Formats: sequence, C-alpha cells, structure tokens
Amino acid sequence: MNVLVTGGLGFIGSHTVVELLEKGYDVIIVDNLYNSDIKVKDKITEITKKTPKVYIEDLLNKEAINKIFNENNIDEVIHFAGYKAVGESCKKPLMYYYNNLMSTINLLEVMKEHNVKKFIFSSSATIYGNPGIPKYVEDLGRGITTNPYGTTKSMIEQILEDLYKSDNEWSISLLRYFNPIGAHKSGLIGEKPNGIPNNLMPYILKVASGELEVLNVFGNDYDTPDGTGVRDYIHVVDLAKGHVSSLNKIEKSGSGLYIYNLGSGKGYSVLELVNTFERVNNIKVNYKIVERRPGDLAEYYADASKALNELGWKTEKTLEDMCRDSWNFMKKEIQSI
Ligand code: UFG
Repeated sequence: MNVLVTGGLGFIGSHTVVELLEKGYDVIIVDNLYNSDIKVKDKITEITKKTPKVYIEDLLNKEAINKIFNENNIDEVIHFAGYKAVGESCKKPLMYYYNNLMSTINLLEVMKEHNVKKFIFSSSATIYGNPGIPKYVEDLGRGITTNPYGTTKSMIEQILEDLYKSDNEWSISLLRYFNPIGAHKSGLIGEKPNGIPNNLMPYILKVASGELEVLNVFGNDYDTPDGTGVRDYIHVVDLAKGHVSSLNKIEKSGSGLYIYNLGSGKGYSVLELVNTFERVNNIKVNYKIVERRPGDLAEYYADASKALNELGWKTEKTLEDMCRDSWNFMKKEIQSI
C-alpha cells in the first residue's frame, strides 16, 4: 500500500511515517518545511533502514499535488500538514483559515480527481469546545471552539462529513488527539517548535536545558486535585500507532466515516507532569505559579473506549516514558549543536 503523508516531516507525522515503514507500507511524504526540517528524512531512514519518498511542496499549490498523484500510485492519505499554534492563530486568523482550509480542500479535490478516497485527518480534542464535563466522548460532537486554530479543525471535520454524505464511497477517519508529547526512543526525532514554545512539554524541555529560566505554571486555583490544569498526555509513538490502526480499519471495513479519540483516558496535572519529569530524568525544572492563561479549561481527558473497541488500539506508554523520551530527544539535540 502506498500512503501519502502530508506534514510527514513534522512531529506527529514523522513518528507515524516510522510506524508505517516498519509495518511495510510504502510512504510518500509531502511537506513544505514550514515547521519541520529536511534532516528528519535521514533520521527516519536511520531508524527504519528505509527511505520514504519526499516532496518539498506546499499543498496550496494544487498543480504540485496533482503531480505527486500522477507520479505515484497512492492508495490512501494521512493529512497532518497545517498551522497549529493556538496563540498565533488568534493574531493571524486569516492566515490560519486560508492555509488550513484551502490546503485541505486542494488535497481532497486532487484525491477525488484521482479516485483516491481513503483519508485520515489529524483532528484535535479542541473541537469539543467546552462541553462542561471533563471526560470527552466522541458522541459529544463539535462544540464552540475558542480559537481560530481549533475552528479550522472543526470546520475541516464538517467539510469531511459533508464530503462523505455527498459520496459514500469515501472512507474518512477523524482522529481527535489529546496532548501528544514524548519522542521516538532513539532520540532521533521529536518535537522541535520554532521560538518560544506555547505547549507545556516543549517549555519544560527548554527550562530543563537552561535555555529558558523558569516555567510559568498557568494557575493553581482550578478545581483539580492540586489546583493546576489537568490534561490527557499521550506518547507520540502510541499516537502514531493509532494512525496505523485506523488505516487498518479503513482497509478492512471499507467506506464510512469513522471518528475516534486518541488519548490515554487518564488526566495528569501540570505539577504531576513537572514532578515526574524531574524524578525520571533527575533534573530540576524551575517553575513559578502565575495567572491562569485565558481560554484554558481546568480539566479534560479522553474517553478512549471507542478506539479500543473498534480499532483494538490503546496507549501503552506511561507518563514516565513520555518524560524520559522527551528529555532523551532534547539531550541529543543539544549534543548535536
Ligand atoms: N501550561 C502551563 N505553562 C505553560 C504551558 C502550558 O502551565 O507554559 C499548562 C496549561 O495551562 C494546561 C497544560 O499546561 O493546563 C497543557 O497546556 P498545553 O499548552 O501544552 O496544551 P493545551 O491543552 O492548552 O493545548 C493542547 C494542544 C492544542 C489543542 C488543545 C485542545 O496543544 O493544539 O490541546 O485540545 F488545541
């Protein structure tokens, strides 16, 4: 099977490419390097001893996508490419809507022209909005999103549902991720955000390495066991495996619209994550409690039972694994500079 992976040199994309290659899929990557590095291609080869075909192209360039489909016998597509920073999306909403929506529509149009109708979309728990309960089950459906990034995910889900309704030969999988952290055990690939990170683990890594002075913990007066925010952290390798399971489901069950949460089903607080990181890596992370971050919810985590029942998938790695593997990647990065 030939799988086209958009954004395949990025954080979740690269880990998914590794899992696909190890399962015997042939992988074609398209990536515009906006938030990724061409060196990841060699790292993937070092890990898997296989070389994916890579196109450095932008999905906004429909001709370029068409060329990729003409040159390769693509069976299915996993779509990761897109802008993903919540804060930036509030400052540049038009850029986010234009890029994330147009690139996806271009891709779907080209797929349709080539009669390729198996599609997995990288969605997010953010589409639930604020449902008022912490355990998110797929049936809750899309709520009111709180930032343009989240709204692009929600809109694309809607587009894909409408596409399926219009032509039920499509097999479409919407995968709603919770909070992916961790890195491949080799330490060769991981998350490398540009500039000052927005998300918790990349920030912890920069404080632990001395690049940033102190972690701001956004609020300790939430209604949670220790007052700090609770999230469902998922190891990126578990998440990558969830994509392979979802691909198997599409291949076996045929056309349909499939929606799954990909999370561990368990929440951890900011301080639990910081403490675990310090303990397993034997390193100090300076932090201070500051004001709540606007838009943050106190607590949410996945109801991950649907993915277990229908895909036979569940997370295997622990919070300790996530903390160890994230730091292992960061240490290798520091050594390589
Ligand atoms: N946090 C801090 N300090 C920081 C960064 C985060 O205390 O410097 C806290 C947050 O307040 C929150 C937790 O750490 O309680 C996790 O925050 P992240 O920014 O790492 O992740 P979010 O849960 O806010 O966002 C994630 C994804 C988004 C997605 C969102 C909703 O990064 O892409 O979940 O599903 F939209």
